[in-house]
Amino acid sequence: MTRPQTVETIADLRATVAAWRQEGLRVGLVPTMGALHAGHISLTKLALQRADRCIVSIFVNPTQFAPTEDLDKYPRQLAADLDSLAHAGVHVAFTPSAAEMYPEGFATRISVGGPSAGLETDFRPHFFEGVATVVAKLLLQAAPDCAVFGEKDYQQLCVVRQLCRDLDIPVEIIGAPTVRDEQGLAMSSRNAYLSPAEIGIARQLNKVLRRAAEALRSGAQAADTLATARQGILDAGFDAVDYVEARESLTLTPWKRDRAGRILAAARLGNTRLIDNLEI
Ligand code: PAF
Repeated sequence: MTRPQTVETIADLRATVAAWRQEGLRVGLVPTMGALHAGHISLTKLALQRADRCIVSIFVNPTQFAPTEDLDKYPRQLAADLDSLAHAGVHVAFTPSAAEMYPEGFATRISVGGPSAGLETDFRPHFFEGVATVVAKLLLQAAPDCAVFGEKDYQQLCVVRQLCRDLDIPVEIIGAPTVRDEQGLAMSSRNAYLSPAEIGIARQLNKVLRRAAEALRSGAQAADTLATARQGILDAGFDAVDYVEARESLTLTPWKRDRAGRILAAARLGNTRLIDNLEI
């Protein structure tokens, strides 16, 4: 088991990638904020199937957190993360500091239209600008052939695809299926905030969404089905539902029955906000 090379600066990252390119190797990138779990490891596996070398970036990106959110509290566990990446056969862990990514005088934000409208943006208006800005930087820094993002953050995946298309960033964006525990709870670094009782409640979210997706597939009316799902999430013990919506899979515009669709939800449990989504 070889530990990944830890690279902290953009210059060192570029030099490492340039050496790989000299050898004709394909490069894959998996952007993360650390606190790695089985979901992230599945992304690295996909990257390693599609590329000869895999870089995992670990950077808790301040620009995607609002001042009221959990930036300071967000779980940080670099040593454990490096162990997991060693087991996964990842070649480089890119762990830049905030000053390396956002040096003094940094003044650019990328605002992606299209799929960033609504859903998360209604509740976290700053979020996708921060994500798009840091993802664009990471893609320009690592210049990978492919980059892997989880379908767990489905709207983020759509926004990243739109970003790369619109800015002609020459990278293949690969979406990876959500990894779930034995009861269907989507893996998330934020699950670490949940008490055992809250985990029991959190596990109901995917079940409610599964029932709703089945109902929609068998012809049930969307408004009624989504209202039932919202109530089901509250009945399971969640404190609030930010949204439960059916959207078109590619554009995230409201779902029409003849199109591929996705049901997406965000709900709050104590101070923790959980998101999940399923294909209809
Ligand atoms: O999904 C995440 O962990 C983050 O939003 C990402 C893509 C690494 C950007 O900071």
